[in-house]
Amino acid sequence: MPEYTLRIRRYSPESGEAAHWQDYEIDLDGHRSVLDGILQAKDRQDGSIGIRCSCRAAICGSCGVRINGKPNLACHTHLDKAFASAPDGVITVEPMGNMPVLKDLIVDMDAVHWKKMRRVTPWLLPDGDPPEREYIVPPESMIDITQTMACIQCGACVSDCLSMEVDPLFIGPAALAKAYRFVGDPRDGQQAERLQDLAEDEHGIYDCTHCFNCIEACPKGVAPMSQIMRLRRIAGSDYGIDDRNNGHRHEMAFVNNIEKNGLLHEADLLPDSYGGKFHPRAVPELLSSLPVILRAVQRGKVTPAGALLHKHKAPKEVKRIFRDVHDREERYELNLYVAGEEEEADSGQDDKQASAAGGQLPAERSPNT
Ligand code: FES
Repeated sequence: MPEYTLRIRRYSPESGEAAHWQDYEIDLDGHRSVLDGILQAKDRQDGSIGIRCSCRAAICGSCGVRINGKPNLACHTHLDKAFASAPDGVITVEPMGNMPVLKDLIVDMDAVHWKKMRRVTPWLLPDGDPPEREYIVPPESMIDITQTMACIQCGACVSDCLSMEVDPLFIGPAALAKAYRFVGDPRDGQQAERLQDLAEDEHGIYDCTHCFNCIEACPKGVAPMSQIMRLRRIAGSDYGIDDRNNGHRHEMAFVNNIEKNGLLHEADLLPDSYGGKFHPRAVPELLSSLPVILRAVQRGKVTPAGALLHKHKAPKEVKRIFRDVHDREERYELNLYVAGEEEEADSGQDDKQASAAGGQLPAERSPNT
């Protein structure tokens, strides 16, 4: 029977001792899970190891931990795979990040994850009287939100969210993905209010910095960051919400900058985010950024001539991409359940497209996207 070493982060608040690492030798087949290993160590060597688990089948979401520094479900990680990614042959297991540790591998989900989840009103708020019978929802709308419904609330995305590390008040990837689940649901009658709220909150949708950590961390392919970007597109482009955080304008400044230059021309980004170099809103921002600008000039990162006289000339390939996107009548929103097709199918081609997309309907034509 192969042997593995688990190095578990131990912490017991009652003991008064600082957190420390402790090694446990376990003997299990490589296809058994890290959770099995922890439970064997707990059973045979130290009954005081704290770990939360229930289903042992990647369904309940309770066994989220960091394995070799990366968040994952302990029951969904094979020992041999964990061993292969362990730098010195020792599998490290520690509690998830961004949440207070209660004991050993158990974090306080109430204090962070569930609190943020409640922040986004995670239930349907339909308008008007309920129908006499059931609500009828178009299948493509359900496919559109199924990806967010796949979340098992394990907190892996919260654990590695860099924005939350800097701003603990950030609503965060899990809760914002949940918000999309209701914004994208045609039965909900409060889409505008939800979007306004999440856009205007300085810890809301524009607080995400696109680090992709939540996408990598999620064991269920929910891609929380993609859901946040969809909320932004719907808020800014469809509902025209011009938030006070300048989030939408900043995003559009990025897009326009790339369209004009091909590569990001940083000197234009800040003033364009505030309406252009001479816009009254841009002046105080430029003045407050002067120390940064001067440092950049000193280090040769920016030259006054390059900043002011830069020729805006995007390569024709970039222009073509933008033209293709602008020419589309509807925005494409692909998700986990849609393989994606370049060609827009008309209604007569649905069957053909569905089979090409692995039997799924094209969710990008959802009325809500
Ligand atoms: Fe349920 Fe791991 S024990 S997801």
